[in-house]
Amino acid sequence: SNLWPPSTLDDVEKLLNDLPKACVWDAKDICQWEGFWFPPAFVKSTITLRSRFQARDDDVFLASTMKTGTTWLKALSLCIMQNKSHQNSNEHDDVLTSGNPHFLVPIIETTIYYSKAPPVDIYDASAPRLLHTHLPYSMLPNSIKNSACKIVYITRNPKDNLISMWHFFNSLYRPNQDPYPIEKAFDCFCSGVHPFGPFFEHVVEYWQESQKRPQKILFVKYEELKSDPKGQVSKIAEFLGRPFADEKEVDEVLWRCSWGRLKNLEVNKSGNFLKDVPNKSLFRKGEIGDWKNYLTPEMKEQINQICCIKLEPFGLFL
Ligand code: A3P
Repeated sequence: SNLWPPSTLDDVEKLLNDLPKACVWDAKDICQWEGFWFPPAFVKSTITLRSRFQARDDDVFLASTMKTGTTWLKALSLCIMQNKSHQNSNEHDDVLTSGNPHFLVPIIETTIYYSKAPPVDIYDASAPRLLHTHLPYSMLPNSIKNSACKIVYITRNPKDNLISMWHFFNSLYRPNQDPYPIEKAFDCFCSGVHPFGPFFEHVVEYWQESQKRPQKILFVKYEELKSDPKGQVSKIAEFLGRPFADEKEVDEVLWRCSWGRLKNLEVNKSGNFLKDVPNKSLFRKGEIGDWKNYLTPEMKEQINQICCIKLEPFGLFL
């Protein structure tokens, strides 16, 4: 629109007013911007981010929609970047005991440029910076796309993603109430009306870019991390220029980041990683195929059809 890029706060408000709106789980307002759905505060902070953020060549970005294994990837990447698994390692060396992975790897568009707070100064953060974004590839600041920084994208099977999101929003927006009707959640997911949706378009953007520029973007599937953790984590470490010295190091990192261990760390058992989001809600079940306990055969078929139309023509099978 002719308001882009907005130059004043009034322009931002006008832009926000004009965007299509929806309500997720009858609880949370979201708006559609450049083809994707975001919480309104996200739009504001992303506008600031896109006008100010300068990526560095040695930055590492993790990217994802929501509920795709981001917490795990953050933990793994922290360990890889710190490469602290020296012989006499003990709990005190372990950064994961000092904070929740989402606190340790901040989301650039919200944590750093959230509209109500002054931007967190990450310019002094010691290099290399490890950061996260929920933005689709097309909406990333140009300096992220054009500098030599690396991006690791994680995604998972859409049916499991939907179920993970359903549980997460139920605990967030409907504590001590009946769950939101699964049929409605299913419709929202299939039509892409949920934060950072549509899932399929988000995934395809990063997938295609990772095919074009494999040095720039590594595309990781949650299911592959589960079935071949050593192979996948070694691949991530090599991609980030920090290959493991031996198998013991790989085992150590996998153990540190294992679901059972993270879930039971004191920092994750208590506290909130966002205002209303308890850390413990990030570690629900950590399994593949939980959708089978919730989706009907018709629902399964419908999501498979969407994959067939939107992902498989690009050689992407989830
Ligand atoms: P479930 O809801 O299926 O259990 P995100 O981190 O992007 O929010 O994704 C959340 C999903 O990742 C949840 O899936 C959660 O259980 C799973 N998860 C979190 N930490 C994990 C870990 N260390 N290993 C495996 N899965 C993990």
